[in-house]
Amino acid sequence: MSSSQVIIDIENLTRVYDVGAEQVTAVKDVTLQIPPGQFIALVGRSGSGKTTLLNLMAGLDKPTSGSILFEGEDLAAMGEKELTNIRRHKVGFVFQAFGLLPLLSAFENVELPLRISGFGVRQREERTREALGIVGLLPRANHRPYELSGGEQQRVAIARAIVTRPPLILADEPTGELDSTNAQSIFGLFREMVETHGITVVAATHDSTLLAMADQVNEMRDGSIVGHLEGEDLQSRLEDIQASRYRDRPSDGDGTTEVSEDSSDASAGQPEQPSDDSTDGQAQDEDYINRFRRPTDE
Ligand SMILES: Nc1ncnc2c1ncn2[C@@H]1O[C@H](COP(=O)(O)OP(=O)(O)OP(=O)(O)O)[C@@H](O)[C@H]1O
Ligand SMILES: [Mg+2]
Repeated sequence: MSSSQVIIDIENLTRVYDVGAEQVTAVKDVTLQIPPGQFIALVGRSGSGKTTLLNLMAGLDKPTSGSILFEGEDLAAMGEKELTNIRRHKVGFVFQAFGLLPLLSAFENVELPLRISGFGVRQREERTREALGIVGLLPRANHRPYELSGGEQQRVAIARAIVTRPPLILADEPTGELDSTNAQSIFGLFREMVETHGITVVAATHDSTLLAMADQVNEMRDGSIVGHLEGEDLQSRLEDIQASRYRDRPSDGDGTTEVSEDSSDASAGQPEQPSDDSTDGQAQDEDYINRFRRPTDE
């Protein structure tokens, strides 16, 4: 695929942080192309470099070496004005902790990026309603965030991310604070936006049960991409994982336990932030990653 056909073209990208006298290589020699109109999942245990890579894609951070072309333009060579333009018009962000302003209604939260970009009142109204409609929340337009469920808040955040009609959505563990039903529905929404609106979504996740909705899955380890699956290879690998789960844990009941445990483990694998229920989730996270990896990857 030539670079003119991809949204983001990453080559030999490395990001090294200086921490005192030490150096941390958060992203290491990553080469990756993000084609338009796909739902791309980024997986990997805590500290593997997912957030750093997403930040670099958004031009929020600068590479130490290597390059990122955004629609053919080198992000590192851009000035602040051009980067602001990309962030306002080309990329929508969705974070784990929805990030809505508590005193604004759902409508006003979604409308905000349009105000910042100077859209007129009629266009703001039209686009905000359209975005809320896409996420199925028009009936909640006048609610403030605290009057919405977690899943609804994340839908508002997604509406806010798409309201400027950017070609690319970057989502950093968007379902980390949601239960399994809401997590499935958020990923379903991404899937639908990719198919119906041609948007490209890159989402970092710890939740293996959501991967069936992705077009491709890239696994990171120690800053590098160590696994890539798409198409039939991806589906058959996910079926293997499912099958081995049922085989290995027959006493787990109705099969929903695994899903809800997985999706509640947003903090899984973050040893620096122990949380009350992270132990099981962490073990499952590791377990999942080991299963996702092909034996030949080692
Ligand atoms: N600003 C920073 N300064 C120094 N080191 C950093 C910084 N940001 C990240 N790192 C380090 O870079 C590595 C990758 O971090 P990153 O946040 O990208 O991982 P992650 O895959 O998103 O993890 P998680 O799943 O926990 O969110 C980690 O070792 C982290 O400690
Ligand atoms: Mg992260």
